Amino acid sequence: MDEVLSVLAPSYQMATESAVSRGGKFKKVWGRGNVVSAFGSTFTRCQITFGGENNRIEIGEGANMVECKIHVMGSNNVIRIGKKASAYGLSIWVSDNGNEVSIGDNFYGSGSMGINCSEGTKVSFGNDCLASRGVMCMSSDSHSILSPWGKRVNPAKDIVIADHVWIGYGVTILKGVRIAKNCVVGASSVLTKAFDDENTLIVGNPAKAKKKIGGWRVKKIVGGISPLEMD
Ligand SMILES: CC(C)(COP(=O)(O)OP(=O)(O)OC[C@H]1O[C@@H](n2cnc3c(N)ncnc32)[C@H](O)[C@@H]1OP(=O)(O)O)[C@@H](O)C(=O)NCCC(=O)NCCS
Repeated sequence: MDEVLSVLAPSYQMATESAVSRGGKFKKVWGRGNVVSAFGSTFTRCQITFGGENNRIEIGEGANMVECKIHVMGSNNVIRIGKKASAYGLSIWVSDNGNEVSIGDNFYGSGSMGINCSEGTKVSFGNDCLASRGVMCMSSDSHSILSPWGKRVNPAKDIVIADHVWIGYGVTILKGVRIAKNCVVGASSVLTKAFDDENTLIVGNPAKAKKKIGGWRVKKIVGGISPLEMD
């Protein structure tokens, strides 16, 4: 075990016996009952900070986290990262209480992706999702916009991304967005609403459903594939 795990205060429980940590910090600011469970996963130069109580971070077996930061400021928050997920430069900021961030199995985040989750909301990615560099997801605007009568007009809302969604370079995903299964989101798009039709190409600012697609593959297929090979 890396020496960074030995600086923990007694109220901070770790269950990382089989996790590998290469550099970085697992740091406690204050609070009790904060738990990180990360069996069989690898952390390279990662940092986890808690300021609050009864927060839980669960990292799935075989996950590989490189230069990632998880900051939790509040209580009763849950962060789950799925089995065999790979994330490079992922930054998760959770503030307030009762939020949930969930990233599915086999997720691949190629760099500097941010997730800001606050005001008791949920940000979730299904299994087999792919996110390029510079993707930003925000379930709250962090500040209030008021009507002339003083009522807040920009409430925080959940973000729900289904299985097998590919999110291109520099995409912004705002509060209330849903993306259905097998969709592709074009580079630099800004999503402000729900996209509930599967197999759709979503592009632009503000993003719109552009066309139906037959799905997508990580593999660079030259020509086409026979119907027998298709899922
Ligand atoms: C989304 C994308 C994959 C679609 O590729 P494609 O299927 O070849 O799509 P096309 O180039 O035929 O474009 C289809 C339409 O969408 C528009 N479009 C495509 N990408 C767009 C984008 N990022 N923003 C706005 N409009 C876009 C095109 O202008 C075209 O519009 P038109 O039919 O009105 O002329 C591609 O355009 C893209 O954004 N690639 C970047 C992928 C990326 O970030 N990769 C990083 C590695 S994970």
